[in-house]
Amino acid sequence: MKPINEAAVSFLSRSSNEGFARTAAACFAAQLDPTLEEINDIKTAVSEAVTNCIVHAYPDRLGRVSLRLRLFEDNSLEIQVKDWGVGIADVEEARRPMFTTGSAERSGMGFTIMESFMDAVKVRSRPGKGTVVTLRRKLSRRMGAAV
Ligand SMILES: Nc1ncnc2c1ncn2[C@@H]1O[C@H](COP(=O)(O)OP(=O)(O)OP(=O)(O)O)[C@@H](O)[C@H]1O
Ligand SMILES: [Mg+2]
Repeated sequence: MKPINEAAVSFLSRSSNEGFARTAAACFAAQLDPTLEEINDIKTAVSEAVTNCIVHAYPDRLGRVSLRLRLFEDNSLEIQVKDWGVGIADVEEARRPMFTTGSAERSGMGFTIMESFMDAVKVRSRPGKGTVVTLRRKLSRRMGAAV
């Protein structure tokens, strides 16, 4: 399937950019005239994915994070969050509820939250190279959609 619209931004892994990424994704999704619930679900999932880049991918330095947003004919939205950080040795283990390598304030629920708010969550990672998280969500068709 070819995208009918696409946008991309990249930013430093500063925690202040978590809000930027979340809002950028919501703004892009707005052209589909999503429901408030859909917008909130998208924001929550993007927030989890980007926070992981900030906290885990670059634990002791600032690095680059990229966010690519694509829209398809069937009204589905694909959000790709990519980093070039430490990577994940065992993705299956990392996706398990409550698995965390983080400190006490981490609950290990980020991937589980992404899965519950999105239709599909794909994770590709290479230790030492980085991680790509792809989120997909089909939105309801509404009259106000711009595309
Ligand atoms: N982009 C990433 N780069 C490197 N490791 C990651 C990345 N994203 C996730 N991980 C690894 O996967 C684990 C699970 O991630 P998940 O988001 O589910 O939980 P968490 O971030 O540890 O806790 P929470 O999201 O609840 O604060 C992390 O603890 C970390 O080890
Ligand atoms: Mg997390």
